[in-house]
Amino acid sequence: MANLMSGQFLVLENPEALAIEAANRFVTLAGQIIAAQGRFSVALSGGSTPEAMYRLLAQAPLKDQVDWKNVYLFWGDERFVPPDDPDNMWRMAQETFLSYLPIPPTNIYPMPTTGVTPAAAARQYTQTLRQFFAPGPPRFDLILLGMGPDGHTASLFPGHPALTPPDEQLVAVVNHAPKPPPTRLTLTYHVINQAAKVIFLVTGSSKAQAVARVWGDDWDPIQCPAQGVNPRHGHLLWLLDQDAAAQSLVLNR
Ligand code: 6PG
Repeated sequence: MANLMSGQFLVLENPEALAIEAANRFVTLAGQIIAAQGRFSVALSGGSTPEAMYRLLAQAPLKDQVDWKNVYLFWGDERFVPPDDPDNMWRMAQETFLSYLPIPPTNIYPMPTTGVTPAAAARQYTQTLRQFFAPGPPRFDLILLGMGPDGHTASLFPGHPALTPPDEQLVAVVNHAPKPPPTRLTLTYHVINQAAKVIFLVTGSSKAQAVARVWGDDWDPIQCPAQGVNPRHGHLLWLLDQDAAAQSLVLNR
């Protein structure tokens, strides 16, 4: 089956160049969206790749180019560990940029991971999304995503039930994730593919085979969840460094 990838891709020389590209795009998009609609809603990515981008946003000049009081931050997924756990992605974002920004705490919506069961947390976050985006469906202005060597994205892992959620499920609980910690919360494709813009940030040779698979002719989003990201009415951009793109002929035209 022919590849149905409808996105664009940009290959950057190295992770540092990719972080600069991603941070500048964030700033430009924030300015455009806030000017047009008064607020900019973003679902942040977990993992280590976005850290360099987040650190750039936390310092001049980029920090001073964003109207942070009109930026609203959510997460695409979260590890179900307490906020003070080193594996918690809200904590990573706090440490890399949020604690340095003039962003109102009420603009930040972490996925709940304490005092609730994972299922209750998923229900709570679903309610949070519905209330924030009401009266329309949850449609983020920007969703940042990473990808694992197995083609997972957010906490959507190969073969997992969260890949084929019931019609209205916006946030799914993931148990026995192959990437620790094992219990997670994740936006489903229903939310991800509703976004106005999705940007993948993928670096390193460990991702090269998965990138080649995503852009290859074998279309199987259940076994390669990143292939399932195709915003219906939005724009998809893959930011890759040369190592991640190294096995993809189509990307090295
Ligand atoms: C996580 C993320 C996961 C991540 C990829 C890439 O919990 O870590 O949800 O999807 O984005 O695994 O991780 P790296 O950026 O660390 O390679």
